[in-house]
Amino acid sequence: MSQRILVWDVPTRVFHWLFALSFTGAYLTAETERYRDIHVVLGYTLLGLITFRLLWGFFGTHYAKFRSFWFKPSEIVAYSLSLLKGKPKHYVGHNPAGSVAIWLLITLGILSGVTGVILFQDIGGDVLEELHEVTSNAMLAVVFFHIAGVVVSSLMHRENLVRSMVTGFKSAEPNEGIRRSYRWLGVIMLVGVVAFWVDYPATGLATTSETVAKVGQHSHG
Ligand code: HEM
Repeated sequence: MSQRILVWDVPTRVFHWLFALSFTGAYLTAETERYRDIHVVLGYTLLGLITFRLLWGFFGTHYAKFRSFWFKPSEIVAYSLSLLKGKPKHYVGHNPAGSVAIWLLITLGILSGVTGVILFQDIGGDVLEELHEVTSNAMLAVVFFHIAGVVVSSLMHRENLVRSMVTGFKSAEPNEGIRRSYRWLGVIMLVGVVAFWVDYPATGLATTSETVAKVGQHSHG
């Protein structure tokens, strides 16, 4: 008999919503120089969150572990076909189609973040700038695919996946749940990220070299 069981531990949920927020914020502040500090802080946050997630994929709880959502291409095709037929197989953790979006978001997040950090050091030029833009736009496209997938899966399985990413709970067999939520680690992550946002020194400048130039001007004048 189905019961309310814990599926997503607290660090995975904190990661998810901070990741979503940081990407959205970084994307929205990308065009104007005025918001460059915010853009850079959120880019660093994305990279920090991904570093955590890569570790948590090995040491986290059952459904957060990479091996619980590392599917063979045949499983992805079979799931997608069953979805088209309107009879998808139910997965307690991530389903095979959803896992494709997750792997893409993590990979594109790394590419976009690393190219951003290099550009911020004033190296890389036009090619890197192009790569930074392309990977970030590709990420936005995957986000739309991801949100559409969440909505479709929620409707087909008659379960509210968004709520489960907030509360951590889903309806499944009692023995399928995880036992520990690691709330303390989620709290540390949240406090750490907020402290980083608050403490990050505002330069009001676009790039590192401009900061150096401005600091130089101040010390001479
Ligand atoms: C309002 C917007 C969003 C909603 C409602 C949402 C919802 C969800 C849900 C329900 C899941 C779990 C899917 C499952 O049951 O398999 C999930 C996973 C995930 N989402 Fe989102 N999402 C949103 C935005 C984003 C954005 C903007 C990003 C990245 C830029 C993102 C990245 C991820 C990742 C990486 C996972 C995997 C979580 C993990 O295992 O660590 N999501 N999302």
